[in-house]
Amino acid sequence: VQTQANPDVASDAVNDLSATSPAPLLAAYRGEATERVPVWFMRQAGRALPEYRAVRARAGLLEITHTPELAAEVTLQPVRRYGVDAAILFSDIVSPLAAIGVTLEIRPGVGPVIASPVRCGRDLDVLRDFEPSEDAPWLAEACRLVVAELQVPLIGFVGGPFTLASYLVEGGPSKAQARTKALMLSDGQTWTRLLERLCAIALASARAQVEAGARAIQVFDSWIGSLSAGQYERHVLGVVRQLFDGLAELGVPRVYFGVGTGHLLELLAQAGPDVIGIDWRVPLDLARARIPAAIALQGNLDPVACLAPEDVLEREVRTVLAGAPERGYVFNLGHGVLPETSPESMSHVVELVRSAERPQAGGAA
Ligand code: CP3
Repeated sequence: VQTQANPDVASDAVNDLSATSPAPLLAAYRGEATERVPVWFMRQAGRALPEYRAVRARAGLLEITHTPELAAEVTLQPVRRYGVDAAILFSDIVSPLAAIGVTLEIRPGVGPVIASPVRCGRDLDVLRDFEPSEDAPWLAEACRLVVAELQVPLIGFVGGPFTLASYLVEGGPSKAQARTKALMLSDGQTWTRLLERLCAIALASARAQVEAGARAIQVFDSWIGSLSAGQYERHVLGVVRQLFDGLAELGVPRVYFGVGTGHLLELLAQAGPDVIGIDWRVPLDLARARIPAAIALQGNLDPVACLAPEDVLEREVRTVLAGAPERGYVFNLGHGVLPETSPESMSHVVELVRSAERPQAGGAA
């Protein structure tokens, strides 16, 4: 793993980070007030970075995740360049499925495509137990390589059961999740077995990441917004609660994120996470009023704002910060970094967040 700082990085931003202890990210995830607002970006590693595209030109996405040196390298790239407060392991939510033998491909510009979709009870046989040390030794190895180089916490992640189920049932990305919801509504027994299998797989993956040094786990349940509140409550919440109960044993903060969840916030809180990631549609002060105070918040700049001229971007960042909680808060985007984003605008966001006044800590950090 190359350790030399990227020449584009403001090196004092990186030094600032290493001098800060304990990690502001973890303090904020625990609900504490922090001297400055911690910041990282969902999908911070990836095509927005030329240094990622250079690695990607030589290796496919799954090949990168299966090669610990490459996975570690691309995980560290955004930390070096932006000086963010966390690394997120470079992997994909479907990687554990590939590791247990589900035939899939991750198509650029499309997403995961599954060769034989899951449509009935018999199709569940492919979802055997995931044994990370045998099925995916690269996972822990990549975490260890990253942690050895890193001054900020590594966030591990897993896919939420509904979101993974949607890829398996649809066979690929889908807007309406029609087949998934049809299965959910019509065959409760298969549905519950499917979600419980995915929950067990996610738990095994999270455990391996934490044992190898990840200090928080984020559950990406990106597509739950396609469910009504009643559907989520009846058909998904129970398994997600099992997932968060299981994750609690790992002793690290647990973040729950989905897109289009404005109608679900109270239910997401009932699933039992320590932190909820808010998408860009709901202002943070409104989210704060609806989510119990013990749960920290993360979010929620519209990723599209990063494509706008600098003055617009500044205004949008300040609007998010103005509505943000005074404690228990981590700045992030409301969804992932768009591939067409310029790295300079992401650096600018980090600077803006870093220089923000913190009411409780009495001024700029
Ligand atoms: O920096 C990071 O955030 C870590 C890496 C990461 C990837 N996928 C790598 C990746 C993370 C956290 C994910 C999670 C993931 N994967 C989610 C949840 C987050 C979200 O965006 O809602 C989902 C839904 C997936 C499934 C998936 N994989 C999608 C929708 C795509 C995008 C398809 C595209 O090309 O636009 C992928 C592919 C993928 N996963 C890429 C990366 C960097 C881009 C493709 C590539 O480099 O070939």
